[in-house]
Amino acid sequence: MSQAFTKAMARNIFYGGSVFFILLFLALTFDTHNAWPQRDNHEAITEKVSEGKRLWEENNCIGCHTLLGEGAYFAPELGNVFKRYGGKDGIKAFIMSRPKEGVPGRRSMPQFNFSDAELDAIAEFLEYVSGMNTANWPPNIQG
Ligand code: HEC
Repeated sequence: MSQAFTKAMARNIFYGGSVFFILLFLALTFDTHNAWPQRDNHEAITEKVSEGKRLWEENNCIGCHTLLGEGAYFAPELGNVFKRYGGKDGIKAFIMSRPKEGVPGRRSMPQFNFSDAELDAIAEFLEYVSGMNTANWPPNIQG
């Protein structure tokens, strides 16, 4: 057996590999930064949308629901609920119609007693979320 694998070769593999992956990392970072402006619909963030997000957080909707895959897996995904219900009215009607005493025998969606303005803000927030370019996530329309 010859001593084919020298220290110099090991060093070159180390430096060459490091340079290659650093460049790859930089290229992917630039690519991500270039893609953001096309995906971002921040001009759609109105006062109402922010208010809806605040209500979403304060009432811990994510404690039962997922939003674009993040959250609890107890209740339906809501990133696409705007599309599923075909608009804001269906969403509002659903949230409003929750029985105060709950559904017997199981943990169900609570009645939050939102005002009309609050309901509208939540529906606007969910509309905003459905308009984000998420590369088609969630992959289907079901919750
Ligand atoms: C305690 C758990 C829980 C919390 C908290 C909760 N939900 Fe729900 N939600 C559910 C369940 C369960 C369903 C499925 C229908 C049912 O069984 O009542 C549901 C259904 C929905 C639906 C209809 C989804 C569909 O595809 O039919 C909407 C819209 C919704 N919730 C919005 C909200 C919003 C907005 C909040 C926060 C203000 C919230 N939910 C908080 C449990 C919860």
